[in-house]
Amino acid sequence: MEIYKDKNFTIDDRTEDLLSRMTIEEKIGQMLQVSYNVLDKNEYENYKNLGIGSFLHVLGSEADDIRDKAAKTRLGIPPLFGIDAIHGHALLNGATVFPSQLAMSCSFNRSLIREMGRATAREVAADGLDWTFSPVLCIARDLRWGRVDETFGEDSYVIGELGKAIIEGYECDNLIIACAKHYIAYGEATGGRDAYDCSVTERKVRDIFLPPFKKASDAGCGSVMTAYGSIDTLPLTVNKRMMREILKDEIGFEGFVVTDWENIKSLVTKQRAAKDIKEASKKAVEAGNDMSMNTHEFYNCMLELVKENQIDIKLIDDAVRRILKIKFRLKLFDGKDKIDKNIIGCSEHKKINHELSRESLVLLKNDNVLPIEKEKIKKIAVIGPNADDIRAQYGDWTYFSHPEPKKHVQPKGEYYTVLRGIKETFGEDKVLYNKGCDIFGDENYIKKAVKIAKKADAVVCVIGDCLAQNGEYRDRANLDLSGYQEELVKALVETGKKVIAVLINCKPLCISYIKEHCGAVIEMFNGGDFGGLAAAELISGKFNPSGKLSVSFPQHGAQTPCYYNQYSGWHGGQYVDLQKGNVYDFADGLSYSKFEYSNLKLSRHTVPNGGAITVSVDISNTGDMDGKEIAMLFVKDVVSSVLTPEKQLKGFEKVFIKKGETKTVTFKLKTDDLAIVTTDLKYVVESGDFEIMVGANTKEYLTETLTVL
Ligand code: BGC
Repeated sequence: MEIYKDKNFTIDDRTEDLLSRMTIEEKIGQMLQVSYNVLDKNEYENYKNLGIGSFLHVLGSEADDIRDKAAKTRLGIPPLFGIDAIHGHALLNGATVFPSQLAMSCSFNRSLIREMGRATAREVAADGLDWTFSPVLCIARDLRWGRVDETFGEDSYVIGELGKAIIEGYECDNLIIACAKHYIAYGEATGGRDAYDCSVTERKVRDIFLPPFKKASDAGCGSVMTAYGSIDTLPLTVNKRMMREILKDEIGFEGFVVTDWENIKSLVTKQRAAKDIKEASKKAVEAGNDMSMNTHEFYNCMLELVKENQIDIKLIDDAVRRILKIKFRLKLFDGKDKIDKNIIGCSEHKKINHELSRESLVLLKNDNVLPIEKEKIKKIAVIGPNADDIRAQYGDWTYFSHPEPKKHVQPKGEYYTVLRGIKETFGEDKVLYNKGCDIFGDENYIKKAVKIAKKADAVVCVIGDCLAQNGEYRDRANLDLSGYQEELVKALVETGKKVIAVLINCKPLCISYIKEHCGAVIEMFNGGDFGGLAAAELISGKFNPSGKLSVSFPQHGAQTPCYYNQYSGWHGGQYVDLQKGNVYDFADGLSYSKFEYSNLKLSRHTVPNGGAITVSVDISNTGDMDGKEIAMLFVKDVVSSVLTPEKQLKGFEKVFIKKGETKTVTFKLKTDDLAIVTTDLKYVVESGDFEIMVGANTKEYLTETLTVL
């Protein structure tokens, strides 16, 4: 009886049955993931007929062809199709492009991010695919790093919470699986240089980098991706301690581990940690990788290793078991639920996207300039290199950049640059436009821009960065605004008009001048389809901004890292040639309302180890507009055996409060949340006092003291 074909049996039974029928070739085939665009045609066709475990970057009808061919193999094991749908199914032109992870993290809105994940899953599934290589759970602390845009910012707690939310969204309908990546400490690479070594210890891994992956695993995340690079000089691909012992055995991760792109080959070609691909394959599998992304030689090498008795077959079985379980979980053997293709870019998803874009915007400065009532102005000047550039606004990982860069594609879906958004919001006849300058290059049109600025009642200047400064291979040493952008802003400021700066950029840039001289500053990061419309609506007062920064802004590139939860030093941490502090801090962000915090209460002031308390605070909206506020709960461990930060976020809640109303916000705090990692690598709650701070940001908060017995 073919149990594996019968959906009345459990996933475990079906998996074991199928596994028992498989040849070694079939098993190793399941451990390989093939990309269509790096192989010659014949080789690629060959893999299609071999019964390969997974394909990546395949879209639409191509997937159907592969699926049909797999169905004709001996056991008919369906392939798993993976894609980088990291802010929407954006490699497909016409699908919904959401704000980047960095942008959406500024919304601090778990439920909206969950909805975004769910919408993305439906679009990916409608396109016939099963797996998104998202979320990125890396921590963005070195701002030179090119992939800051892909993260949920600089704080491990925020990353864990939003990572969990997006995974729940991706996986809730069981249409696709998520992939928590890049395991582990990838963003911490020395010098912010992508995929380099980083000097973190296991203690720090456990303290800072592991918790988001633990939350992902607890949320049932189907897969984890091994990072490029190395920690403490040991390549992650062969890091048995991190993968097999900590992720799988200790944390109990039940999904499968896929390497990143050619990690196994790179052990030979880049890291010189194996003499050939055969040795690299052996080390990688022993360390805990279950699937090899795009090192095709892996297949033959593994077969040889088995023939020569050089690899434990139990490790192969364990890997294949994990992969098959996911395939059963997704009902790939039973004819997965079909999703209507019309769902791709549908109005329901647009609505979620529009809302998320609004909540992702951060109003950083408002010198009584905003909002601008449409009726009160005759002309509005829209200026700047990013005012009408949808590629820059989308950021990385869309059809413009992947799988291969394309310059001249017309977006098929509805989208709004800031220029389009302002025209829509204020009326086309009121809008004057000039690019002012490019992001790079010697040319500029500043004089023309100044001319139109002088004719306008309001000046919006949209600056930032572009695709060439965003993503892998795109680390930056200099975080200043490139090209003539600052000159452009200066010239506009010199007209005497209050300039509203809108930033479209993949990471914090050095914007001291902008902060000091512009009348208003709005940070969008990469805002997706609706970023431009949301910015225009914010400017016009159509909604009340509520985003806060998930990442800090330095004064100078060399001031990085500048994250809020660093350990105290002795000498103030100030550079002699810079002023103290950041340009903007984690959690900064304004509203058109005013929120006042009062009445901070702990349900008890002393708690036994292992217990929990409730923390509550009243928040009053004393402004004239209804709005949402993000309340933050930080803790300080007053005395600890290892260094702990002055403030560490342990909770956040986003609440809607009508003007004139007060709401009580509560947080649950367990003593386990206060654990430190000791030098002998144990999670321990040390008894003593903890300051509990609740407020709007890292500078304005109320404090109470909690004693843990
Ligand atoms: C990236 C991954 C990505 C993979 C597949 C790699 O270069 O590091 O994040 O998922 O490519 O596209």
